[in-house]
Amino acid sequence: MRKFYLIAVVALISSSAVLSAATYKGQKVYIETCKECHGGGQEMAGSKKQRAWEKLMDKKGEGLADIHFASKKAQPSWEYFKSRNYTKDAKHLEDFLIEYGSDSGNVPACN
Ligand code: HEC
Repeated sequence: MRKFYLIAVVALISSSAVLSAATYKGQKVYIETCKECHGGGQEMAGSKKQRAWEKLMDKKGEGLADIHFASKKAQPSWEYFKSRNYTKDAKHLEDFLIEYGSDSGNVPACN
């Protein structure tokens, strides 16, 4: 009986550890920089398909930055999107957004 518990615990731990390091970093960036305007990261990621995120985050996230530069409402984010921090974070963000993209199978379906 003890053995079964052990297996169950190990299975639980390894399933929550599937997030790769990069995905985790991307999630952290999201929480620190995007959440105040956009809310939950997994909902955000699930709003687009993986292919769409790939395109948006191409060339160190140029597309995503442009969307924000085009919107006056997003002005408080301009400084970040212009900064070197963003170019550094873009890859991690991309990993995170793709990991939870709407066709990734990683987002719990609610519709
Ligand atoms: C200061 C607030 C603010 C911050 C910070 C911010 N955004 Fe935005 N974001 C906006 C606004 C405003 C828009 C434009 C909405 C529109 O015009 O429809 C936008 C648009 C977007 C879009 C396009 C949505 C669509 O429907 O195509 C995505 C994707 C996005 N943001 C992701 C992010 C990510 C990822 C971050 C963090 C790196 C971030 N945003 C940081 C305010 C913000």
